[in-house]
Amino acid sequence: MNQPKRYLITSALPYANGLKHVGHLAGAYIPADIYVRYLRAQKRDVVFVCGSDEHGTAIPIQAKKEGTTPQAIIDKYHEAMKQDFEDLDISFDIYHRTSSPLHHETASEFFTKLNDAGELETKETEQYFDEEASTFLADRYIKGTCPNCGSDRAFGDQCETCGRTLSPDELINPVSTLSGKVPVKKKTTHWYLPLGKHEQFLRDWILEQHKDDWRATVTGQCKAWIDGGLQSRAVTRDLDWGVKVPVQGADGKVLYVWFDAPIGYISATKQWAADNGKDWKPYWEDKDTKLVHFVGKDNIVFHCIIFPVMLKLHGNILPENVPANEFLNLEGDKMSTSRNWKLDMRDYINDFVKKPAGPNGENGGGQMVDALRYYLTAIAPETKDSEFTWKGFQTAYRSELTDIFGNFVNRTFVLMHKLCSGKVPKLHMDILDDNDKLLIADIEGTKAEVQSALEHYRFRDALFQVIDLARKGNQYMQKKEPWIKAKLATSNGPESVEAQKSIDNCLHLCLQLTANLAVLINPFLPSTARKMLYMMKVVEKMLDWENAGKINLLSVGYSLREPQLLFRKIEEEEITAQIEKLKNGLVKETASNKDTIAGGQASGGGVQLNQLTTEPVNKPQIQYDDFAKLELKAGTVTACVKVPKADKLLQLEVDLGTEKRTIVSGIAQHYTPEEMLGKQVIVVTNLAPRKMKGIESQGMILTAEDNNGKLQLLKPENPVSPGSNVS
Ligand code: MF3
Ligand code: ZN
Repeated sequence: MNQPKRYLITSALPYANGLKHVGHLAGAYIPADIYVRYLRAQKRDVVFVCGSDEHGTAIPIQAKKEGTTPQAIIDKYHEAMKQDFEDLDISFDIYHRTSSPLHHETASEFFTKLNDAGELETKETEQYFDEEASTFLADRYIKGTCPNCGSDRAFGDQCETCGRTLSPDELINPVSTLSGKVPVKKKTTHWYLPLGKHEQFLRDWILEQHKDDWRATVTGQCKAWIDGGLQSRAVTRDLDWGVKVPVQGADGKVLYVWFDAPIGYISATKQWAADNGKDWKPYWEDKDTKLVHFVGKDNIVFHCIIFPVMLKLHGNILPENVPANEFLNLEGDKMSTSRNWKLDMRDYINDFVKKPAGPNGENGGGQMVDALRYYLTAIAPETKDSEFTWKGFQTAYRSELTDIFGNFVNRTFVLMHKLCSGKVPKLHMDILDDNDKLLIADIEGTKAEVQSALEHYRFRDALFQVIDLARKGNQYMQKKEPWIKAKLATSNGPESVEAQKSIDNCLHLCLQLTANLAVLINPFLPSTARKMLYMMKVVEKMLDWENAGKINLLSVGYSLREPQLLFRKIEEEEITAQIEKLKNGLVKETASNKDTIAGGQASGGGVQLNQLTTEPVNKPQIQYDDFAKLELKAGTVTACVKVPKADKLLQLEVDLGTEKRTIVSGIAQHYTPEEMLGKQVIVVTNLAPRKMKGIESQGMILTAEDNNGKLQLLKPENPVSPGSNVS
């Protein structure tokens, strides 16, 4: 596509059933915001829409948990999420909601158009029904074992452990989340979207047209779905919460949340247009619009397969790309709401951004917003799952943002005030040396690199290019050594004129580089860019993207402000406090907090780990002979796979020198098969064999359990030959 006329950028509409965590932020909101800020800096016509997803069974279920009404839940979380996004500088043009009358109208019209055109089918089928609650069990009202990963906490619409989209019939051992009872089957009629009819279209569009420009993880998931056979998908539900099915006699039925929610992008655009005196239609109907959906990987099929089929049938444009991110883990484990293993945006905001001013007037504020935006972009799970750690946050903040970027800007300003009386010095072309020329080339070249990375949704790369330019600035200054030249410049000797000219050139270019850094960093760290503008005493217009790559952004003789530190120090205690907080908040998984709303009661909230571990349980003393009964050996893992239908088990082949053994170990949630390959482990080799999931385990691997429940392998400090005795 050549330069599109306009852009419509969407971020997944978050469910209004709870606060969202930094995994969500990294997946669908920060990358979209970077992209949009970049487009705006290019003066493109762009609208960035989002809003709350307020339907589906997730909402009434949360209402029950909190002992209130669905309406109260969506009102509460809609406001809270909107505020969190605002506080983190996510610059939506509109943050709408799917409970609005405009959305209900838009979704009804959409359904009616498809239904009237004969594009939907109706079918009578048998569906799970809870006799005690006398209601059909849609989506999250039913739970069971995931046929894909074996997790016993899969819902009727999706498994949250592996992300697989499911239908209730696929669940193994289904139970009602309302009564905890096994449901019965009962007849009901629903509308279906016959995806099978659109297979060829999907193959051509995704697997041919977009085979090179979409992320491999995205096309890969789509291909698996298409190859798996496209079934007709029910687009209605027996529920009383949602957009009513706009057909006579369809009482008690609503549109499936995944049918109405993406239409929320359209209603949001309509509302934005109405608020701004614009026409919404070209954004959804004109082929010259570039539509991009930013989502997490669990949303891929909805945005790449189901919604596009709906859009095509309804006569709308299709997304140009869906740059979905993989998942972000936290301190070695999956983020989880039920186990409270997560970092909510709200908690970060309270602890860092809204923190009261410190003794030196330093305050969280914008720089701490940017600190989070920085780290989440630097570790963005663009091609594979990645991990947030507090230590990693601290290191990235200190060694990249502060020591490279902040330090360069600060040194430049300090030296300019010291050696050039606070004014932009001249650039003397007659003494331009190779270092100067190289820096100028780097300034020009970085713009192209950053731009290309952004256009291809490689946000980490783009960010690293900017940091790298600052790094080059530091190296340049180090080579030019203006502080040494300063001595010569004031010496009154014959070299003093040349020395001052060299200082001028160095600081002139460093200042132009600083201005460039402001333009380039602006999409990522908007507060930082603004602070730099203030220091340079220039207006917002300087941040226009066309200014990147230029070395005449600051005029000679212009006097600049005193520097302000761009990034405050993060104290060690702030980091350890966060790690402690996370560990102490962890809720151990118990039968009672597994999200089942037994008997219609809110689940018990769970037990705090720190209440559980007050009394260590000691085993009785043993004699050496008891210990000597154990045969322990060191071995090397030579093969490893996941055990099918068991989310905790790995099957390993361990080389013990004289023999190889098959061992089944419950470490699948802590180590991937790839990670295990080649690792040394300690094996109990004389334990009686035991069958697990039909596989005979010929030994046991030793691990240590951290107090957050994370397992760590025990292994020799340095590699030993397989079969070595352990005693
Ligand atoms: N609420 C969904 C989720 O959190 C995302 C909806 S995206 C939309 O997974 F396209 F449907 F709006
Ligand atoms: Zn699963």
